[in-house]
Amino acid sequence: MSDVLHAIARELVAPSKGILAADESTGTIEKRFRTIGLESTEENRRRYREVLFTTPGFGEHLSGVILFDETIRQATSDGVPFVKVIESAGAIPGIKVDKGAKPLAGFPGETVTEGLDGLRERFAEYAGLGARFSKWRAPMAVGDGLPTDFAILANAHALARFAALSQEAEIVPIVEPETLMDGDHDLAACEDATGRMLGALYEQLRAHRVDLAGTLLKVNMVVPGKGSANQADDRTIAEATIRCLEAHVPAEVPGIVFLSGGMGDVEATSRLHEMNRIGAERGGLPWQLSFSYGRALQAPALAAWAGDDANAALAQRALAHRARMNGLARDGRWDPALEHDAA
Ligand code: 13P
Repeated sequence: MSDVLHAIARELVAPSKGILAADESTGTIEKRFRTIGLESTEENRRRYREVLFTTPGFGEHLSGVILFDETIRQATSDGVPFVKVIESAGAIPGIKVDKGAKPLAGFPGETVTEGLDGLRERFAEYAGLGARFSKWRAPMAVGDGLPTDFAILANAHALARFAALSQEAEIVPIVEPETLMDGDHDLAACEDATGRMLGALYEQLRAHRVDLAGTLLKVNMVVPGKGSANQADDRTIAEATIRCLEAHVPAEVPGIVFLSGGMGDVEATSRLHEMNRIGAERGGLPWQLSFSYGRALQAPALAAWAGDDANAALAQRALAHRARMNGLARDGRWDPALEHDAA
């Protein structure tokens, strides 16, 4: 299929780089701003994203940025479109296109992600605005018989329809099934749910004739639920995650980028590093293993900014530091001692 798609997918998972997820929906960013006591107005959201995207050395360890519909249309206070700011830094602009997870009728406690209606036309507009990759997230809860096979199928089908439409528009789709960390389930339950979802997802992607070499997978690491009495160390998590991926993700997929999903920022770095260490010990894995973190990249920067542009440089140093730490982890070259160099 398209060489353009293959090249963009590979560029997004280039050595020492990963993706910044800055595509919080209006509801999610409101939650994040509440932690710093800031009202979520359009101008405050724009100011915050300007601080992030104008970080000096932004493109050194960030290959791409996932934007929200509002953000891809915004510009700096000097009027430079964010898309241009990101491109000038050497990173690739991307867009979240799903419209969120909605209750799945007949399946209490489960959701299906919506947003397929009119998506072909929206992709045409986003391509014009400069998006070269896209993302669709399908979260799934674990516990008490969940996720059901049907909810998995419904979400896998929607993810595959999204991916096919994205490729038609010459935009690289990032398919994101997320097994949620909420609950007291153990690591085995997360591995089972994640594995079942990935199995269904790749069956649907093939059935929809999606070119896997022009896609990326964004997924959770295999971890115990936040409330589980049996927490696991980073090595165990790294091994379980690689085992699950090897069982279900075809080798044509160029890269897998992890979400942080509520893990601590250093935890997210350390676990990514462990996986890449295991990869190196084994002489390589079929795909690149990198990051597409939201909270684990942004949390220290958001706290440092605290809504006041007088703190912009501090916030930017915090973001640059986490990007550099994850850039090292992505190559299996991180060292916890480097964390002390923090801004
Ligand atoms: P987190 O890393 O905060 O989970 O966000 C990543 C993301 O894009 C979820 O869709």
